Amino acid sequence: MAIIEVRDVRKVYPLGKVEVQAVKGVTFAIEKGDFISIAGPSGSGKSTILNMIGLIDLPTSGEVLIDGRATSGLSDKELTRFRHEVLGFIFQSFNLIPVLNVWENIEFPLLLGKTTVGAAEKKEWIDWLIEEVGLTEWRTHKPNELSGGQRQRVAIARALVTKPQIVLADEPTANLDSTTGEQIIGLMKKINRELDTTFIFSTHDAKIVDVADHIIRLRDGQVVENRRRGEDSASAGAQE
Ligand SMILES: Nc1ncnc2c1ncn2[C@@H]1O[C@H](COP(=O)(O)OP(=O)(O)OP(=O)(O)O)[C@@H](O)[C@H]1O
Ligand SMILES: [Mg+2]
Repeated sequence: MAIIEVRDVRKVYPLGKVEVQAVKGVTFAIEKGDFISIAGPSGSGKSTILNMIGLIDLPTSGEVLIDGRATSGLSDKELTRFRHEVLGFIFQSFNLIPVLNVWENIEFPLLLGKTTVGAAEKKEWIDWLIEEVGLTEWRTHKPNELSGGQRQRVAIARALVTKPQIVLADEPTANLDSTTGEQIIGLMKKINRELDTTFIFSTHDAKIVDVADHIIRLRDGQVVENRRRGEDSASAGAQE
């Protein structure tokens, strides 16, 4: 069963007296453990779709199912619980807390929810994540003492700390040089293999798109390509 299903989703933003059709009836499914790139030019609807999958924004019509459950009928409380327990987020601008060090930034999401893990177990898990992203020597440093690539590594560990099934990353490499960006995607891919976490990231960098196992390409709010690596392009309706 697909871990995420997007069914005929539309998103219309009111903009003064006119409306912007940001997403125009998009349908696709994502399997558990997938490593997916949402590709497409600026304005094609990548962030809008990620925000709807992340339950940050609601579709105007259509349905997003997570783990087989329709999300449109969920209460605010249930949406918050879903976001906290099932989803992890990585942002283009890292969004770390400046006054907290690396270790504390990674711990932070655990302080927001009802954490039932013991202190020793928690420490072991955070230490493991820091090792995993290669920042053991930087564990007591603050974000402003880190490079962009190191900050994004902290953000990756932080997204994983609650053991989410799905990690969403909107242009996680946009503020990095291309070599560092490739390393960050490589790290996400390694974690995807090791923990079987589903990763969905948006990008308009063709080189980074190539690393994905599953590519969903958007243009003008519609899916123009939906294929797994190694498969022929299964064009979804729209003409190339
Ligand atoms: N809050 C909003 N209000 C009005 N229009 C919006 C809003 N957010 C997005 N849009 C419009 O929806 C369309 C899709 O935007 P979106 O941000 O999803 O694109 P994107 O593919 O993420 O682009 P980029 O690569 O530049 O980040 C654009 O035409 C954009 O102007
Ligand atoms: Mg965007």
